[in-house]
Amino acid sequence: MAEPILEVRDLVKHYPLTRGILFKKQIGAVKAVDGVSFGLARGETLGIVGESGCGKSTVARMLVNLERPTAGAISYKGENITRLSGRALKAVRRNIQMVFQDPYTSLNPRMTVGDIIGEPFEIHPEVAPKGDRRRKVQELLDVVGLNPEYVNRYPHQFSGGQRQRIGIARGLALRPEVIVADEPVSALDVSVQAQVVNLLERLQDEFDLSYVFIAHDLSIVRHISDRVGVMYLGRVVETGTDAEIYDHPTHPYTQALLSAVPVPDPQARAHRERIILTGDVPSPANPPSGCRFRTRCWKARQRCADEVPLLAVPQAFPEGPAAHPSACHFAAEKHVVPAEGELPPPPPPPGPLHGGQ
Ligand SMILES: Nc1ncnc2c1ncn2[C@@H]1O[C@H](COP(=O)(O)OP(=O)(O)OP(=O)(O)O)[C@@H](O)[C@H]1O
Ligand code: SF4
Ligand SMILES: [Mg+2]
Repeated sequence: MAEPILEVRDLVKHYPLTRGILFKKQIGAVKAVDGVSFGLARGETLGIVGESGCGKSTVARMLVNLERPTAGAISYKGENITRLSGRALKAVRRNIQMVFQDPYTSLNPRMTVGDIIGEPFEIHPEVAPKGDRRRKVQELLDVVGLNPEYVNRYPHQFSGGQRQRIGIARGLALRPEVIVADEPVSALDVSVQAQVVNLLERLQDEFDLSYVFIAHDLSIVRHISDRVGVMYLGRVVETGTDAEIYDHPTHPYTQALLSAVPVPDPQARAHRERIILTGDVPSPANPPSGCRFRTRCWKARQRCADEVPLLAVPQAFPEGPAAHPSACHFAAEKHVVPAEGELPPPPPPPGPLHGGQ
């Protein structure tokens, strides 16, 4: 990869667990994110997937500095921005903006759309001097496919899809280079999801944006991502290009997630293997030793409890599409959904009906 626009190294976020009212004593920590590393190239979309509670939003909040990491580093264009403060931080933050999941709760119902989209200009007046703000906001409404005349309306006067467009316009206001989109379409109707995803793709080309796109729906992530990172219990367990992850997954957790994705082709559907994971996701306050997935993995052995598997290209696959990082001691390919060409020939069409008048 050329020098990444954004790079994350060994990022950790632990939330202290305390007991006592007057004298608080730390009795442990919720290990929400526990050693996550990845890079984001300019113009690229990195999809992050994983079940609820695996730490996706915590990573997102650290990327846009809504949370301070417990440890690890976030670099923007080669500069470690994790410990910046004051002016320097403000200048960098402008370039990394967030689009939130729920367009119903993330927009202040008492503010007009114009004020919501123009709010970032209050913090960065240099981007839009006061007299020019209304025009800039109307321009942004137009860019996201909303009528610029709507500038004085309130959020409740819009549909869910339109509200998410407002959230995207606000994210774009400061002309950022990176957008972290945390489940931007999960709260929307399926019919509207595609429109918002298409809008994000168009904006990416138009404004040369790089995206970190977080979702639990693997089909949407495949549609939009160049590369994908799969998270489980605070760690990345597998990364690769979308073709590597979807067609050649080597980590059992990725294989299980993929086996649950709806398959449109009825023949492929009939031949795909469903992997049903047993047990609940363990608590991030007390993760299993060794491989965190071992309590639910059908391949687990003693080594999995003793040794933490590193996120690395498996020795068994030095080249080819399976040669991408996977945090499993026994990484192996498994075609969960058969690819074209692997399916048996379809049955012959039924012959003419016989008998009866
Ligand atoms: N402020 C906090 N204090 C304590 N624990 C927290 C805090 N924020 C998040 N957590 C815990 O950290 C873990 C990761 O949460 P996070 O919201 O990042 O998950 P997620 O992958 O975004 O889940 P979802 O798909 O449900 O949005 C969860 O166990 C959550 O309960
Ligand atoms: S390291 Fe062991 S428990 Fe973990 S995913 Fe691989 S086989 Fe399963
Ligand atoms: Mg989340």
